[in-house]
Amino acid sequence: MAHPVLVAAELKNLLEPTQLVDLDITWLAADQPTPKGDWVAIVPLLSRWIGGTEFKNLPKLRIVANCAVGYNNVDLVAAEMRGILVTNTPGVLTEATADLTWALILALARRLVEGVDLVRSGQWTGWHPEQLLGLELRGRTLGLLGARRPFGLRILYTARTPKPEFERETGARRVDTNQLLADSDILSIHVPSTPETKGMINGETLARMKRGAILINTSRGDVIREEALAKSLELGHLGAVGLDVYADEPHIHRRLRAAPRTVLLPHIGSATEATRRKMAAIAIENVQSVLSGKPPLTPVYS
Ligand code: GLV
Repeated sequence: MAHPVLVAAELKNLLEPTQLVDLDITWLAADQPTPKGDWVAIVPLLSRWIGGTEFKNLPKLRIVANCAVGYNNVDLVAAEMRGILVTNTPGVLTEATADLTWALILALARRLVEGVDLVRSGQWTGWHPEQLLGLELRGRTLGLLGARRPFGLRILYTARTPKPEFERETGARRVDTNQLLADSDILSIHVPSTPETKGMINGETLARMKRGAILINTSRGDVIREEALAKSLELGHLGAVGLDVYADEPHIHRRLRAAPRTVLLPHIGSATEATRRKMAAIAIENVQSVLSGKPPLTPVYS
């Protein structure tokens, strides 16, 4: 008999029928509340909260196969207490998100949005030696809050444990957060949202960053206190900010939306068709594996 499962309706076009055999799917749209019933698996988007109430309403649930690498939308403690497995989609979106991080770094360093706005406004009066002068990347220091893939500048990184292979590949040097903040010309955030990282970029840590530094966040929005960030931009301390994620999506702090020298994107880090298909496929493979009595492929806790 086919297993009753709930799957985010927005994944329908990204999945092939062959991936869905033996599943009796109820497609759940993002704007619908999580229902009560006998479903044994759920494949949610990162925007759906799955916690105590949802677990109570889904008493037969065996797995939450989150279609995202981040899983801060799932109450892990509540899941573990009920013996419900939680999986994510690691690995497959690293390249797409790294590309977007670079797009933000370069857009900010070379003031692309200001240039586009100037041309669009019809106010461009021609070449000028001091017009829209940007930052040259050669010789700058790139700080990675949370170790990630090579980028090609002098790289400093923080991580709970040293990453010898990453260091060998990139020449990166592990430092503590204080040094990372103080030395980086460009600081890119790559940590998950946890009780330790929430709000770690705040008024006090921003003040420790270099004047004129560029800050990028393609991980999770609540790592940054948005009002403090807006203030730092208003006061001219931070040079520029590129964000793909926000603390309370899709709401973006009013002051941040109005702040100067930003590029604000609508959470599109993993938004390539190939990556989104891989994410949907891994989420469903986790469901198929668990429902056929095998271990999950990418559990978030063991
Ligand atoms: C995207 O933000 C993800 O966590 O997959």
